[in-house]
Amino acid sequence: MTAHPVPLRGAGASPLAAGAATEPVIRLQAVQKTFQLPNGQRFDAVCSVSLDIAAGDVFGLIGKSGAGKSTLLRLINLLERPDAGQVRVGGRDLTALSRAQLRETRQNIGMIFQQFNLLQNATVFENVAFPLRIHGRNATADIDARVRECLALVGLEDKVHSYPAQLSGGQKQRVAIARALAPRPQVLLCDEPTSALDSETTQSILDTLREINQKLGVTIVIVTHELSVVEALCRHVAVVEQGQVVEQFAVREPAAERLTVLGRELDALVRRRAREAALDLELAQEAAGVPAALRVAGGAAHV
Ligand SMILES: Nc1ncnc2c1ncn2[C@@H]1O[C@H](COP(=O)(O)OP(=O)(O)O)[C@@H](O)[C@H]1O
Ligand SMILES: [Mg+2]
Repeated sequence: MTAHPVPLRGAGASPLAAGAATEPVIRLQAVQKTFQLPNGQRFDAVCSVSLDIAAGDVFGLIGKSGAGKSTLLRLINLLERPDAGQVRVGGRDLTALSRAQLRETRQNIGMIFQQFNLLQNATVFENVAFPLRIHGRNATADIDARVRECLALVGLEDKVHSYPAQLSGGQKQRVAIARALAPRPQVLLCDEPTSALDSETTQSILDTLREINQKLGVTIVIVTHELSVVEALCRHVAVVEQGQVVEQFAVREPAAERLTVLGRELDALVRRRAREAALDLELAQEAAGVPAALRVAGGAAHV
């Protein structure tokens, strides 16, 4: 494969592989991840999950601690390699790529974490420049311009020379977001990005993520155990339980204000088994008098 420099100038996301327009930007097909435990036993962290995520969506993965959310998210950029199944991003099967091709393709998939994972001994500028430097193919002036552009996107232009230790938690997460966006990814994976933050800072980070989705069209997949995060940000959500997606639905239909009443039912959906939850949802819609055409599918959402 020919190596291309990261496109630092010009509009739009990274180019897609052929066929990408006809399929969701992320397609997991029967992916499986089994861990070998120290006692020799095997543990199925992700059990044959299939999931489609459309380009431009904000997709939540919600579930309790230990449900397999992080493992599922890390399968999308192959930080975890599946034992079975296919991982397709931008129309390419990542499991079939060479290491070099995978490195290149990962430029199209940014990621942020609960604990920010910044380089402590590097300035904010160097942290954001890092993914633009690793290939050694971008001109210094272009890197400089892109770093400043990304810091402006997250409102941190004035912190360019600061070190992570001098920043608040929210500012550190903003640096991490700027770093993830620097190579112009089409997809941003977020693993509990607000779980280490207070509620006010959480709101402002969620606002920034929403803006990134709306302005840049970046597809966001966000793992959380907090219902409020899903309600504030996501358009679609999958409930993860014991390594499986037990439920999938649209959080809110924009044209139907009455459906916001269903937001209150989400809590129940997360807590209960899939069948009960689907029934609940149907009953809630019935009770709320939601017209049939506007109802969110409850039982038909299994994958
Ligand atoms: N590298 C690993 N080795 C063994 N078990 C693991 C490993 N990573 C995760 N697990 C186990 O897989 C399950 C799911 O983990 P994880 O995906 O981190 O869940 P979540 O993000 O929903 O809390 C947990 O029981 C966890 O202990
Ligand atoms: Mg996790």
